[in-house]
Amino acid sequence: MSEEKNFRIQPGGTLRGTLRVPGDKSISHRSIMLGSLAEGVTEVSGFLEGEDSLATLNAFRAMGIAIEGPHDGRVVIHGVGMQGLQAPAGPLDLGNSGTSMRLLSGLLAAQAFDCELIGDASLSRRPMRRVTEPLAQMGAHVETTAAGTPPLRVRGGTVLQGIDYELPVPSAQVKSCLLLAGLYARGKTCVTEPAPTRDHTERMLEGFGYPVERSASRVCVAGGGRLRGTRIDVPADISSAAFFLVGASIAPGAELTLEHVGVNPTRTGVIEILRRMGAEIEVANERVVGGEPVADLHVRGRELHGIRVPEDQVPLAIDEFPALFVAAACAAGETVLTGARELRVKESDRIQVMVDGLTALGIEARATEDGAVIQGGQMVGGRIDSHGDHRIAMAFAMAGLRASAEITAEDCANVDTSFPDFCALARQAGLAVSEVP
Ligand code: S3P
Repeated sequence: MSEEKNFRIQPGGTLRGTLRVPGDKSISHRSIMLGSLAEGVTEVSGFLEGEDSLATLNAFRAMGIAIEGPHDGRVVIHGVGMQGLQAPAGPLDLGNSGTSMRLLSGLLAAQAFDCELIGDASLSRRPMRRVTEPLAQMGAHVETTAAGTPPLRVRGGTVLQGIDYELPVPSAQVKSCLLLAGLYARGKTCVTEPAPTRDHTERMLEGFGYPVERSASRVCVAGGGRLRGTRIDVPADISSAAFFLVGASIAPGAELTLEHVGVNPTRTGVIEILRRMGAEIEVANERVVGGEPVADLHVRGRELHGIRVPEDQVPLAIDEFPALFVAAACAAGETVLTGARELRVKESDRIQVMVDGLTALGIEARATEDGAVIQGGQMVGGRIDSHGDHRIAMAFAMAGLRASAEITAEDCANVDTSFPDFCALARQAGLAVSEVP
């Protein structure tokens, strides 16, 4: 864990210029996992050198994988094939990273060795039965605490059986966990989702030459196949770009270009929601890079208005709500979010923590069981608590663009999990943010 860090943001200013935000976190995790299990070498560029994806990288090193880098986002993974992982010497510490833990639980349930997965205080509070229950249906043995939280004790040496599983909540982590276990299971493993969620696992499996059966809401893999090493170009993370999309949308006179951003349609809810609020975002130069759509995003400052967020957009923008709450606070009228209960079990309870922070800045905001109601208004200065949640910290940094006085955001060190150098990049674009102890 990183040391204590707070952000101090001077009010006003605007965002201008051209930026490339760091690599996509979801794709970076998956590149290490599949690259390690592939036969031959996998070369990754644009890898996110953040604590979360480095936790995955270090976990695979601990299981005997030779990984060169990262150097300037370049990683070379010497894959060992589906059966080549070795027992780690001790527990695998996954820090703050829910994606590492949930995806690894599926992968490790199918290995020959036992293993323990641990995490930091936030990860140790997050629900894991959503993966251990369906894994148990496959015959896996993965134990949680009595509360259903980490540490996870994974017993190896089990033959898994494919299942046909309907996800009770839309979750790409659960889907991916089961697909990874399914690579080793007898027969077919199928996952049906109630609403589309990010499909990076499916796309990347295909990129490694693994057959994946897909229809609108269902994906299946058959166990026993092989992965072939490949090249992966990780696009910039739309979830990191989201802070700048919101910042530039709310800042008068802003004009910003975000380059080479991943615009996979299962991730672009933030663009759709901001546009409905009146934002001007142009998706330019769209192209496909290594199986993932990528584009440059041009955004200009505009007057926003409140909306009812369509529930079908929620899973497509699931990580962007801290930033979108700040957009709602700057919009004329009321914004109503429903169908977003999952936000309560992210790195923090993002509904409550955002409502508390906006309230501290003078905004009328109310938490509901599965969302929030926010009245746009004038933000004043003040202190807010990020609760160690990277996305809360970055969202409130952007709030400074429209606050009437200085904002201090506390407990921001975990910004390094997904967006190292956030402050430097934000300053380069014009945000008056500094890191203070
Ligand atoms: C992720 C899936 C999402 C998202 C998380 C990354 C992934 O979680 O919030 O940041 O990489 O699969 P859920 O599957 O829990 O919604």
